[in-house]
Amino acid sequence: MELLIKESARLIKESKFTIAFTGAGISVESGIPPFRGEHGLWNKYTPEVLDLSYYLNHSTECWEYIREIFYDFFADAHPNKAHFVLAEMEASGVLNSVITQNIDNLHFEAGNKVVHEFHGNSKKLKCLKCDRVYGADEFDFANIPPKCVDDGEILKPDFIFFGEGIPQEAYANSFADAEKAEVCIIIGSTGEVTPASYVPRTAKQAGATIIEINPEESSFTSGVTDIHLKGKASEVLEQLAKHLF
Ligand code: APR
Repeated sequence: MELLIKESARLIKESKFTIAFTGAGISVESGIPPFRGEHGLWNKYTPEVLDLSYYLNHSTECWEYIREIFYDFFADAHPNKAHFVLAEMEASGVLNSVITQNIDNLHFEAGNKVVHEFHGNSKKLKCLKCDRVYGADEFDFANIPPKCVDDGEILKPDFIFFGEGIPQEAYANSFADAEKAEVCIIIGSTGEVTPASYVPRTAKQAGATIIEINPEESSFTSGVTDIHLKGKASEVLEQLAKHLF
């Protein structure tokens, strides 16, 4: 592994444009369960609670689950070492952007400035009637569903539900960066959800070297990944940082 870490650090330092593509795995060490795998959230909850058409007809019922999954679990989650290393990489000029599937806001909290949130952000709620956006911290989630003060409409978390389009700016920026990338670091994703998982594949097709950090294999590992750093995000990134800064 040490040789692979050193080779990865060399490639990152030589790269003119480097992106990180992150999934739920980078936040596992912040106490947020992943969606899939042994302790995955989708083993306990049905993804239907995040199906847009189901939500629009069963908002109050869905909010029970949304609060438990995204506001109880996330409430006291903080960035872990992995997030902080990515922030240090951006600050020192060896990382150009983070493209994240995560909605937990932890990359911004760790200090990254250029973060494309492919699936939105749970820290914001939106009125689907008047488009007013609220901070989640404006609400006490003991009383759900949260409602718009202007028109009483039930608010929706500002992350995308299944069947909902990807935020246009994040989509455009993510693929533009993937086309330019010389190195793409995939951290903590099964790669099972599209179109997000096309981002590293686009980078690969554009000639980027793909470095994957994951204790398991994913759908990227054979066919997309060039260097698999098999391990937990915080441990691997801490090792990588020793050869970057
Ligand atoms: N460090 C790095 N990777 C880890 C760690 C860790 N400590 N722990 C688990 N992993 C890996 C798992 O091996 C798995 O490959 O993180 C990955 C988590 O996969 P998923 O739960 O499928 O998360 P993700 O790929 O981000 O899911 C994509 O699915 O439900 C939707 O919108 C949701 O954004 C999410 C999307």
